[in-house]
Order: sequence, then C-alpha cells, then structure tokens
Amino acid sequence: MGRSFQVVILGGGTAAGYAALEFVKNDYNHGDLCIISEESVAPYERPALSKGFLLPEGAARLPSFHTCVGTGNERQLTKWYKDHGIELILDTRVVAADVKGHTLRTSSQETIAFRTLIIATGARVLRLEEFGITGSVAPNICYLRSVQDANKLVEAMAACKSIGGSAVVIGGGYIGMECAAALIGNRIPVTMVFPESHIMARLFTPEIAAFYEQYYEKRGVTFKKGTVMSGFERNDQGKVEAVVLKDGSRLPADLVVVGVGIRPNVSLFEGQLTLEKGGIKVNGKMQTSNSSVYAVGDVVSFPLRMYGEMRKLEHVDHARKSAAHAVQAILCPEKIEDYNYMPYFYSRVFTLSWQFFGDNVGSCIHYGVQSSGKFGAYWINKGKLVGAFLEGGSKDEYAALARVARDRPEVPDVNLLEDQGLGFAMAH
Ligand code: FDA
Ligand code: NAD
Repeated sequence: MGRSFQVVILGGGTAAGYAALEFVKNDYNHGDLCIISEESVAPYERPALSKGFLLPEGAARLPSFHTCVGTGNERQLTKWYKDHGIELILDTRVVAADVKGHTLRTSSQETIAFRTLIIATGARVLRLEEFGITGSVAPNICYLRSVQDANKLVEAMAACKSIGGSAVVIGGGYIGMECAAALIGNRIPVTMVFPESHIMARLFTPEIAAFYEQYYEKRGVTFKKGTVMSGFERNDQGKVEAVVLKDGSRLPADLVVVGVGIRPNVSLFEGQLTLEKGGIKVNGKMQTSNSSVYAVGDVVSFPLRMYGEMRKLEHVDHARKSAAHAVQAILCPEKIEDYNYMPYFYSRVFTLSWQFFGDNVGSCIHYGVQSSGKFGAYWINKGKLVGAFLEGGSKDEYAALARVARDRPEVPDVNLLEDQGLGFAMAH
C-alpha cells in the first residue's frame, strides 16, 4: 500500500494550480493534500504556450508563468507547494482509478488512497489519425497542449527559419489562429487549412472573421478554406515535405502545426462516473455522480445556470473559477451556492486583442468601424442581449460588456442597439 491523502488532485494543469491556491488561502492542513501530474513541472498558465512562449525575442519560459500569475497571484514554484505542505507528485501518470475503493494506481505501480478526489485531467489533442490521416508523428509536425509540445514547436520553428522554410497550419480555431500569428512573428510564411468557410467558425460571424483574415493576409498568411488535408508527402528521413489536400493539390511544408480540437481526459472514469457531452458530469458544486469525487476545468460538463443547460467549456477562466468553486464546496459545503458561471473567452494575436462574454446564439448585430481597430458585435436571442464581443477595447469597456452579457437586458429596438453600439453596454 502506498500513500494516503485527505484530498488528491489528479492532474497538474491550470485548474490544479488554482485549486491548490484556494486550499492554501483557506489554511488547509499541511500534509493533507497532494497533486499527481504526468507533467514534469508544477502547474502553469497553459495559455502562455501559444503566445509569450512563441515570441521571437524575449519569449516567456518557466518558471515565469507558473500558476497563479495569470490572475495577479503569487507564482507557485515547487518550493511553494513544499512550504504549504502540498505533496507535488510529478512525472507520474495515473493509469487506473477505483472510485468506489477510493484509490488511484500510478505508472510507478504505487497505490494512492484518497478521501476526496478532484479530477483535473483537462483534455488531450485530437490527432490527425482520428480523422483517418496516417503518419502525423514526425519531427516537423507539431501539436500544442503541453510545455513539452511547445518546446518541440520552438525547435521546429528555428529549423524552419534556418532554411527560409514555410509552414502549414491545420485547423482554423484557437490554436490555428494563435500559432499562425506566432509563426508570422517568427518570419515564417503560413498557409492555414480548415474545413469551414471562415476562421474561428465556433464563435466568429463571417463579418468578424473577415477583419482577422484580412489582417492575417496582409502579414503573409494564405487561407485554404472549405477543405481538409488527406495526407503527407515525406522524405527518406521521415520528415514531412508537403501537405496533400483532398482535391489532390499539394502545399510545400517545412513545418506543420495541427490544431483540430481536443477531447476531455475521461477514460480513467468511464463506467464509474456519469459522463455527459463527452465530459464528466458534475452538479453546481462540481461534484460528480460519486459524492466523494469532484471534477473541474476542461474535463467537466457542468450546469450553466444562466442558460439552464449542461455545457463543456475549454477556457482558462472556467478552469480557474471551477477549481476554486470545488475547493469551497469541499471545505464549506453548507455555505456554497451553485456555480453560476458566465462564459468568457479571449485571445491575443499580433497586436490585436478581443474578448467575448455570454452566449453566441440567436441573431447578431455588428457595431463600430473595423478599420478603426475597435469594433464588436452583440447576439440577441428571444428579444434579449445574450452575448457581446469587442476587439480593441479598454478595461472599462470589457467590464461593461461583461455586465450586459450577465444581465441580459431586453432589446426592444435592434436598429437602435446597432446605432448605439458600444455605447449601449457603457450606459448599462
Ligand atoms: P490542463 O490541460 O491545463 O491540465 C490537465 C493536467 O492533467 C495536465 O497537467 C495533464 O498532464 C494532467 N493529466 C491528465 N491525465 C493525467 C493522468 N492520467 N495522470 C496524471 N496527470 C494527468 N484558454 C483561454 O481562455 N484563453 C487562452 O488564451 C488560452 N490559450 C491556450 C493556449 C494553448 C496552447 C492551450 C493548449 C490552451 C489554451 N487555453 C486558453 C485553454 C486553457 O489552457 C484550458 O482551458 C485550461 O488549461 C484547462 O485547465 P485544466 O486544468 O482543466 O486542464
Ligand atoms: P478548436 O475547437 O478551437 O478548433 C478546431 C478547429 O479544427 C476547427 O476550427 C476546424 O477549423 C478544425 N478542424 C476540424 N476538423 C478538421 C479537419 N479534418 N481538417 C482540418 N481542420 C479541421 O480547437 P483548437 O484550435 O485545436 O484548440 C484546442 C483547445 O485549446 C480548445 O479547447 C481551445 O478552446 C483551447 N485554446 C483556447 C485558446 C483561447 O481561448 N484563446 C487558445 C488556444 C487554445
């Protein structure tokens, strides 16, 4: 038999770091808590990997972005965990879980017992093999989820740059957009390939996407929209030389970056906990179908109270807040209210920066002048404003957007809303 803890956090990503901070803030007993992570470093702010980490100069490196610096809190280095009596078990993969027996088994064959478990296993990248494409393991094909992946990408960018090469980015979502911008920042020309008719199709309207696509094109990005790749051409050393598209055309590539979505890491708990929408189902206290087990971050499907439905959200604000919420639910179950989250997404590419609050459902009206660099959109559903997007806003303006998206005011006159634009949120 191995070690035993009151609380075990399984996974050492962003949510785990924020959960640890919440325990420490609440004077949790030394020695009662452990974090098990397959990564070799303490929890960090994962969003840095596609931004500061990829800068051509002055790039961010650990330990500069360990949690919880992303929200202005202390940087939690390994010593911080030690000082607070938290056992940080790194380089250790959990290979089996027995929920009813309250134990986990690790890759080093240790059995770790828990009284309460917090699942914070996040998500894994979808691999091209899952789309029927073979051979996506090569030195110049990069996925991006962990700091290890980011190191490989940095090396591959340097190799590509040294031969004056070009890159192909597969996927037009967050990873695709942020990595394409980083590649251009590193003076590597990029072609983006994705099946939708415009970038960031999950969130952007065609009008919003048009602004970013023009901006990208001006800086050296070419778009291949409405199509997918069908395979790779490689040289004798196994290095990819070209990406082949469905129509048979080929794109020369010295570097390929793939961002085609993620899947929550739930496999340890299949058949033991209730799943929904591919994630581990939790209630408003982040508690799973077993009351001793909580789950947080990218891995959960949770009740989004505002909209009365279950959602899975793959963004850092939810990871941080759901983690803190679960800890409060464990420590003060009688005081805690149900998680009442409002979706919040953001991105930064080149010198651009946008934020989105709420829900992008219903009809959409656009405001502002794109060429001025400040413009936005509101989504109206069943007569109420439910979602708000803004590029190039100030702190106060984003705060106003968050307010309207949470309050969901009636919109009696859509034309007036369009005329008022940002003023509507500011006056609210
Ligand atoms: P996270 O993935 O952070 O952590 C999961 C941890 O569990 C990892 O350490 C993993 O190794 C570990 N693990 C899994 N299975 C295990 C096992 N069996 N045994 C041991 N350990 C195990 N969001 C946003 O809002 N704005 C942004 O700008 C960005 N940018 C961004 C960039 C990049 C490159 C990525 C990959 C992601 C983002 N995100 C983002 C998304 C955001 O980072 C994400 O929502 C959070 O990291 C989720 O936190 P979790 O802790 O749930 O998962
Ligand atoms: P995503 O869901 O944002 O985008 C996936 C993209 O894959 C789609 O837009 C589509 O264009 C593309 N795609 C799907 N099937 C394809 C195919 N057969 N061929 C080519 N393209 C195909 O996922 P992602 O960009 O991989 O990002 C991974 C995760 O990381 C997401 O959860 C995202 O929320 C998170 N992330 C968030 C941010 C942010 O919030 N700023 C930044 C980076 C990553």
